[in-house]
Amino acid sequence: MHPDMEQCLISAGEIQAKVKVMAQRISADYRGKNLLVVGILKGAVLFMADLVRALDIPVCIDFIAVSSYGSSTESSGVVRIMKDLDQSIEGKHVLIVEDIIDTGLTLKYLVENLETRQAASVEVCTLLDKPDRRKIKVDVKFNGFTVPDEFLVGYGLDYNERYRHLPEVYVLKKEVYSS
Ligand code: IMP
Ligand code: MG
Repeated sequence: MHPDMEQCLISAGEIQAKVKVMAQRISADYRGKNLLVVGILKGAVLFMADLVRALDIPVCIDFIAVSSYGSSTESSGVVRIMKDLDQSIEGKHVLIVEDIIDTGLTLKYLVENLETRQAASVEVCTLLDKPDRRKIKVDVKFNGFTVPDEFLVGYGLDYNERYRHLPEVYVLKKEVYSS
C-alpha cells in the first residue's frame, strides 16, 4: 500500500461489482428515455467511465466543471461553473454523476442550476456518500457506498490533485493533509 494511506477502504473488485449493480438499476430506470449522463469534473471521471460502459441502454455523456471556494479538504458552498455543458438539456433525462457527496453544497447548487434549464428530469448518482457531514439535504437516487467521515482518495478522488488514478478508495493519513 502507498505510504500516505491509512487503510484501503474499498477494493477495486468491490467498486467494479458495485458499478455493475448500479448500472443495471440505471439501465432499468431509464430504458426508453433520452438519458444524458453528466459527470462533474474531475473527480467523477473514473467512476463515470466504468459506469457508462456497464449500461445496456443508449446514453449521451457530457461534463461540467465547478469550483467551490474553500480549503483543499472542505467546500464552502460558494460554487462557480468553470466549464459548462456543451449541449442543451431541454427535454432530456439528466443523471448527474459525482464521486462523493460531503456537505451536499456542490450538488444542491448544480441540481438547482440544471433544473432551471427545462430538463425532463434531474437526478443524482454518486459512488460515495458521507452523510455525517451533510449540511443540506440532497436527494440521491443512486448511491454506491455510504462511507465514514474520513478524507478519502483514489478512484477519482484527490488531495491536491494527487491519487486520482488509484483503482481503489483509500483513507488518507491525517498527517498528509494536516501538516
Ligand atoms: P460537497 O459540496 O461538500 O458535497 O463536496 C463535494 C466535493 O468535495 C466532491 O466532489 C469532492 O471533490 C470533494 N470531496 C469531499 N469529500 C472528499 C474526500 O473525502 N476526498 C476527496 N474529495 C472530497
Ligand atoms: Mg475534488
